[in-house]
Amino acid sequence: MKLLRDKVQQDGIVLSNQVLKVDSFLNHQMDPVLMQEIGKEFASRFAAENITKVLTIESSGIAPAIMTALEIKVPLIFARKQKSLTLRDDIFTEKVYSFTKQETNEITVSKKFMDASDHVLIIDDFLANGEAAFGLARVVEQAGASVAGIGIAIEKAFQPGGAKLKEAGYRLESLVRIAGLEDGEVQFAEADEV
Ligand code: G4P
Ligand code: NA
Ligand code: NA
Repeated sequence: MKLLRDKVQQDGIVLSNQVLKVDSFLNHQMDPVLMQEIGKEFASRFAAENITKVLTIESSGIAPAIMTALEIKVPLIFARKQKSLTLRDDIFTEKVYSFTKQETNEITVSKKFMDASDHVLIIDDFLANGEAAFGLARVVEQAGASVAGIGIAIEKAFQPGGAKLKEAGYRLESLVRIAGLEDGEVQFAEADEV
């Protein structure tokens, strides 16, 4: 997606060979017009699917996900993150390990909001190792629902998440793919169409 790629090029800050900071339009200050275009792009890529719910994880996934849900006209559910949990039987729970933050969160979704009749589109802002996306997919599968696909705004293609998700059989749509962050610059994986 050229618009997002240009934004990453202009306003992304390479913090290290591993981490791209995008706090001026996605992770802190948010660009609503860009988020809306991202929502339209995901909705268009998954238009052939009969999606009943969009699912993301708090907090930075919510903006692109709500715009996607608005476009498709279905509810958005955001999984909640918490450190540890007293067992409850009215929620789906999965453990998600973050390599970036070196911590495990339990993510939860209320059983009220997802069941076997749902066909769920998973949306997130970043894809690195794929732990969050796999955790969300496991929640969908716990509900007996199906995963329509996974939409990612920015995939760090030099990390293994994308390959692992595809190998597991999920349809993955990444709007921008980053091949590397060497020498303080963003290398994009391929030229995006205009
Ligand atoms: P994974 O889910 O793909 O395995 O990724 P990982 O655990 O490594 O990522 C942990 C958190 O860091 C996620 O946010 C993810 O979006 C974010 N992240 C990973 N790599 C980058 C990067 O290069 N740049 C930025 N800006 N973020 C990155 P989170 O913990 O869910 O936090 P939140 O911002 O959604 O609240
Ligand atoms: Na994030
Ligand atoms: Na996220």
